[in-house]
Amino acid sequence: MPRLLVVHHTPSPALQAVLEAVREGVALVDDVEPVLRPALSAGAADLLAADGVLLGTPANIGYMSGALKHFFDTVYYPCLEATAGLPFGVYVHGNDDTAGALRSIERITGALRWKQVAAPLSLTGAPGPADLEACRELAATVAVSL
Ligand SMILES: Cc1cc2nc3c(=O)[nH]c(=O)nc-3n(C[C@H](O)[C@H](O)[C@H](O)COP(=O)(O)O)c2cc1C
Repeated sequence: MPRLLVVHHTPSPALQAVLEAVREGVALVDDVEPVLRPALSAGAADLLAADGVLLGTPANIGYMSGALKHFFDTVYYPCLEATAGLPFGVYVHGNDDTAGALRSIERITGALRWKQVAAPLSLTGAPGPADLEACRELAATVAVSL
């Protein structure tokens, strides 16, 4: 069964609600195994065992979180060749401006030559029902692509 690795940094209730919606979205798709890993504990072995990846992070000082940055620092060279073409999606949550965080993720996933299979999801403020539905859709779209 294809495995969808969800590499997330979830430091607040808002991001926890987003993560739960993501889990629900993956569950909408048959025959995809969700593997949820906090970004600070995910590593090359998790990534090499995955058929696709969903990245989730808060915006921090106009960038991805240090936790997700640490994940990329850890996996970049060990996974550079093996993960070329890997399908991925991304969500970023912030108070008001996620553009820099999304740009930073675009750059690193571009360098890794991953394939974006769903539009990036930008969320700001307290996640409402429409935001959580968008999270489910994002997760389901990435899962369907595997
Ligand atoms: C050090 C720090 C830097 C942050 N930088 C940004 C930022 O650049 N853009 C933004 O929209 N939100 C920023 N935030 C807000 C976080 O993204 C937000 O706290 C996080 O997504 C969790 O959401 P919540 O606080 O509503 O639970 C920052 C928060 C912290 C603690």
